[in-house]
This record gives sequence, C-alpha cells and structure tokens, in this order.
Amino acid sequence: MKSPVRVLVVDDKENILKLFEKILADGYEVTTALDGARALALVASGDFDVVVTDIRMPGAGGFEVLDAVKARSPSTEVVMMTGYGTVGDAVRAMKLGAYDYLEKPFDPDAAALAVARAAERRRLRDEAASLRRELAGIHAFHNLVGKSGRMRDVFRLLEQAAGLDITVLLGGETGTGKELAARAIHHHSSRRARRFVPVNCGALPPDLVESELFGHARGAFTGATTAKGGLFEEADGGTIFLDEIGELPLQTQVKLNRVIQEREVRRVGEASPVKVDVRVVAATHRDLKAEAAAGRFREDLFYRLNVFPVRLPPLRERAEDVPLLAAHLLAKHARAMRREVTGLDPEALRLLTSWAWPGNVRELENAIERAVAIASGTVLLPRDLPPELALPAPVLPPGPVLATMPYREVLEQAQDRVSREYLVALLSEFQGNVTRASARAGVERESLHRLLKKHGLRSDDFKRG
Ligand SMILES: Nc1ncnc2c1ncn2[C@@H]1O[C@H](COP(=O)(O)OP(=O)(O)OP(=O)(O)O)[C@@H](O)[C@H]1O
Ligand SMILES: [Mg+2]
Repeated sequence: MKSPVRVLVVDDKENILKLFEKILADGYEVTTALDGARALALVASGDFDVVVTDIRMPGAGGFEVLDAVKARSPSTEVVMMTGYGTVGDAVRAMKLGAYDYLEKPFDPDAAALAVARAAERRRLRDEAASLRRELAGIHAFHNLVGKSGRMRDVFRLLEQAAGLDITVLLGGETGTGKELAARAIHHHSSRRARRFVPVNCGALPPDLVESELFGHARGAFTGATTAKGGLFEEADGGTIFLDEIGELPLQTQVKLNRVIQEREVRRVGEASPVKVDVRVVAATHRDLKAEAAAGRFREDLFYRLNVFPVRLPPLRERAEDVPLLAAHLLAKHARAMRREVTGLDPEALRLLTSWAWPGNVRELENAIERAVAIASGTVLLPRDLPPELALPAPVLPPGPVLATMPYREVLEQAQDRVSREYLVALLSEFQGNVTRASARAGVERESLHRLLKKHGLRSDDFKRG
C-alpha cells in the first residue's frame, strides 16, 4: 500500500483550506492551519511532504513558515500562494527555496497539479538521496555499520520504520545491535528532537514495573509519598524503547496493550487517564510468537507489537561484516583509549572472521577493546586476541547439553562447524581465488559459491594486498 502524501495547508481564509481539503481528498493526508503560528507548531512536530502556504497572514507570515520548513526538513517542498499583483513576493519566495507559487484566485485543477508536482519532486529527491548513499558506499545507518546484503536490508527497513511513526518490534540474538537500531529509528524520525526513553523490562522488579511505566498517584501504595509520572509520560512526544519486552509480567502486558491501543496511560491508583503521544519500539531476543503459543506472552499484545518486525541477523550469518566492524571498533576504542593502534594483522583478521561469535557484535567489541588495551605495537596481532579464537572451536556442545539435542540437529551443527572452518582455511590459502580453491577442494565453482554464501563468507574478504 502506498502511504498518503502528507500536506500542510496554511491560510487565514477558511474557504481556501476547505478548497484544498476537497481537491486533495484522494491519496493525500491534509492538515490545515488558520494562521502562521499554528503552522509553525505543526511544522516543528510533524513531518510533511508538501506545505502550501499563503504569504500575507496576520502574525507569522508565509516567509516565516517557509524558513521553518526548510530549516527542519530541506526536502519538504513548499508552494506559496500570493495575492493578485504581488509577483515580487513570489519571486522572493522561489529564491528562498519555495518550489512553486499559485496566484490567487487560482483554478482548483491548477492548485491540485502544483501540489502533485511538488509531491513528485519530493519523492524523487528522497530516492536520489538514498541512491547517493548507496553509491558513496556508506556502509552505515546512524551508529550501525555493516555492508552485507543482510545488513543493507536491515538499514532499509529501519529507515522506512523511522519515517512511518508506527510501532516497531526488533528481534535478534544478544549483542546483534537491537538497542543501536532502536536509537537509529528515533534519530531518523520526526520525533528526534524529543526524548528517547530506554526501559529494560527485564530489570524492573515485578511489583514496581507498573508504577515505573505508567506512574502512580500519591498514596497508591506504601512508599508512594508523592504522585509521580511514569516512563510513558516522560517519553511524551518522543520514543519509548521497551527492551526485553518478553520479560514483562502477563498482567502488565494486558495494561501495556491498552496503553498502546488507547494512547493514554492511567497512573496506578488514579481514576482518570492521561493522553500520551509516544512511539513504541520494543525488542526481544525471544521468539514472541512461540512465547504466545506457549501462553507466556499475550497474543493480543504480540499482534499489536508485530506491526513492523525487524530482525537483526547474527554475526555468524554475515561474516563479511566482520572486517568492517573490526576496523570500526578498533578505531572507536583506539580513540577512546588514546592508543596508537591503527591496523589488524592478516592472521588476526582471519581468526576474527572464522570465529562464530555466539555473543555477536558485543563479543567482537569486547575482544577488540581488550586487544587495543594490551597491544604492544600499532597493529593488533593474534596474541592480542582472546586465546579461544586460536584454538579449534569445539565442534559439539558439552555432553549434558548434547544429550538434550535431537540427533539430526547434532549432525547439522557439527557439519556446519567443520564446513565453515574448512572454507575459511581454503579461502585464506588461495587468497580468495575461488577458481583455484574449488579446483583444490574438488568441487564445482558454483557449489563453492553456494557454500560460501550459506556461511556468509565472501571471497573478496580473503584477498590480500
Ligand atoms: N552493526 C553494528 N555496528 C557497530 N556497533 C554495533 C553494531 N551492532 C552492535 N554493535 C555494538 O555492539 C554492542 C551490543 O549492541 P546492542 O546493545 O545494541 O545489542 P542488543 O541486541 O541490544 O543486545 P542484548 O540483547 O544483549 O541487549 C554495543 O556496544 C554496540 O555498540
Ligand atoms: Mg540490548
């Protein structure tokens, strides 16, 4: 479904606003403002594709609106309306960044066309910007870095989610970057000037979780000596990040579901609710659908949260991100510790790329941080890395764990580990030359490509020089 074009129309004449509401009934979401001051407030809090504004209005005039729009969102297009014989104003407006102008009295069709053209131009500009990013080879979104196809897909989704003001559910194993993703969404959204309030649902004591989230009245319980607003009220106008949402007690889930649905919170011990305007971003390392099926998570809440799911892939499925992440994290920690460490020895990089990273990026970051601290030269060496990276990884989990696993899964896991270690050794030996590597391995080039893809390995990452 195509999302409607968001248009703000500003004029001190009610009939002009009515006219635009009528001609833009289809495919547009029209907001109107009867004066410049109201328009400025809307521009500050909303995100519009096109703004149509009168120039002469009491109070804040059209030029002020134009300035505010361009300052906040340069890619929003502005169409100015001028009175008869004030073409000078129109010329000035175009110089200041307006896209077009309409001379009053105008033909409704001409007005509709002007808005449609402005909307199209806005769309093309957005497309060009994302293409430019792609071409510039910027492998990052906010503070998340990655160049694998998997992460590029994630960046695209996060960017979309940021612009949509909807509930987002982030999934993924521990350390895959869920919190960074939540912050990235907030900072790319129209709420970026307001607060981002992170809440670790797993860390709140069960008997306090509701008063923390929703607030409480004075005397609501022992110790509640004053009334207090909760985290939802604190996040008003901004984003609340409900981390580890799977850990919320069931009865709190019922209340949370109602808060999201009604967009209002009721403080504990308070009769009347308070309106809140908050975007919810939730995260969990659990499979919430399975949790719901098992009765440990409210199904209604799951469906309310699962509007826009984004899953952060584990690092072992995108090994091609490891060299980039390693370089990024090395620079980050060298800067923080003011240490002259500028590079990675090729063998150290090979060890990093072949490790399975059960703790994902966080584990990689810890390894790099420690290596930067203990490095004796300007290049990180294998001996600076955690010793387990140099040992062959155990192919199988320890006996008691092993005994709980289905036979098929055990074989698959073992085969995966062996296959991966073999591929990394092979590609390192042949420095990423797939033709020679496949000849030595005795498999077709296509099969080798398929295997590499399955393990998230890229031959280019093994090229030297
Ligand atoms: N793509 C990435 N680029 C740069 N740094 C990353 C990336 N992903 C994760 N990190 C870093 O790894 C660490 C863990 O990330 P984060 O806290 O966002 O993970 P998480 O998914 O919330 O983990 P958990 O479920 O354990 O809370 C952070 O220090 C973060 O800066
Ligand atoms: Mg986290």
